Amino acid sequence: MVIKEAKFVTSNTRADLCPQTELPEYAFIGRSNVGKSSLINMLTNRLKLAKTSSFPGKTQLINHFLINDNWYLVDLPGYGWAKVSKDSREQWRKMILHYLKNRQNLACVFVLIDSRLPPQKPDLEFIELLGTMGIPFVLIFTKTDKQTGTKTDANIAVFMKTLQETWEELPMYMKSSSSSKEGREEILNFIASVNQR
Ligand code: GTP
Ligand code: MG
Repeated sequence: MVIKEAKFVTSNTRADLCPQTELPEYAFIGRSNVGKSSLINMLTNRLKLAKTSSFPGKTQLINHFLINDNWYLVDLPGYGWAKVSKDSREQWRKMILHYLKNRQNLACVFVLIDSRLPPQKPDLEFIELLGTMGIPFVLIFTKTDKQTGTKTDANIAVFMKTLQETWEELPMYMKSSSSSKEGREEILNFIASVNQR
């Protein structure tokens, strides 16, 4: 798929203030610093569309980007950052739950997972939550440029094995690197195929 146009639309804290639309949207979620905003920039070929930072906690709001006037990418704040207060964590939870429950046009959630790490509790918990809510999702293992392909595949295998303990059918997964652009075609093709449904 060719990205002809990518434009920032809104930033806000509440699902009911997000664009009123029937166009499909794809949300990026995962631990702070996992590379959600960078992946949006990589997919759209726009260096500064979504704001990124080497410090976790950069994205704080629900950000909508309209692509080709036809579908949305949504950048969400991350979870699992140790330095966050209990209050902020609760606020994040409320905001995200409200978003997930209320966006009728949510076509798929991309759950980003750092390909360098063993399975992390916040990721496993979030995936369980999506399962409980019946929300379609795909896993994306990020930052594959930071290690060998063998190591990435070994980590993914451990992650999927962990999921197997609770999931009958394993979710689909893809790999990505915002530096090498691994995964770009695969993710965009996936979006194109869902858009056509
Ligand atoms: P929050 O908004 O804080 O939740 O983080 P985020 O998930 O949006 O992460 P962000 O895209 O801001 O990236 C965090 C850091 O990781 C930045 O320093 C990025 O340059 C770096 N980064 C993101 N993706 C990749 C990648 O694929 N490869 C490499 N080498 N670095 C990456
Ligand atoms: Mg971000």
